[in-house]
Amino acid sequence: MSTSKHLIAPSVLAADFANLQRDIEMVNASKADWFHIDIMDGVFVPNISFGFPVMQAIAKHAKKPLDVHLMIVDPDRYLQVCKDSGAAVITVHYEACTHLHRTLAAIKELGCKAGVALNPHTPIGLLKDIIQDIDLVCLMSVNPGFGGQKFIEQTYNKIKELRALAAGVNDGLLIEVDGGVGAANVDKLLAAGADVLVAGNSVFAAENPTKAVEVLKNATGL
Ligand code: DX5
Ligand code: ZN
Repeated sequence: MSTSKHLIAPSVLAADFANLQRDIEMVNASKADWFHIDIMDGVFVPNISFGFPVMQAIAKHAKKPLDVHLMIVDPDRYLQVCKDSGAAVITVHYEACTHLHRTLAAIKELGCKAGVALNPHTPIGLLKDIIQDIDLVCLMSVNPGFGGQKFIEQTYNKIKELRALAAGVNDGLLIEVDGGVGAANVDKLLAAGADVLVAGNSVFAAENPTKAVEVLKNATGL
């Protein structure tokens, strides 16, 4: 199941916020496909990152789609501003949505791709009756809230299980993996069936971030 069609989404959370424009231009000029934007509220996750004004500033310079990961409670309140701030993909957490079907419909109504993120402990099977309505599932391979954490190995099984769940019902589903992704596990992730790789520290903390993106993009899964 090797692929060259996979997408790389550098996570701006790991950028140098005092040199944001420089880091955005690096991503623009690299082989990356998307910008991954992590918005945290200090309630759903034990950290606060940045909000929509900063995202708007990023959008002004970004030449690639913004893939927004909302780690916030009651995300319905912020879907419109998220779209207006430049989102192409809006991903909400399964654990934060009481009426997930309604939330996904609202995201699509805004003209965005609708994503659902699952925490490491959340079983794939919970998506069984909603899988056909999802454009992207983001499998958290760390506990959300911080960059630079250790990849959780159970993620490989979850990718395979998710692909099997979507088979024949949603064959275009994008499977995204977020947390601890880098050169050391990219091939195994692609072989398991991942489509979108989020990479924070493995890109921005690298000596050569452009090259780090290229290594991930050129991986074959073999
Ligand atoms: C974690 C965020 C991730 C994070 C990934 O809560 O959702 O997107 O930035 O960072 P790394 O790649 O450093 O684990
Ligand atoms: Zn994220």
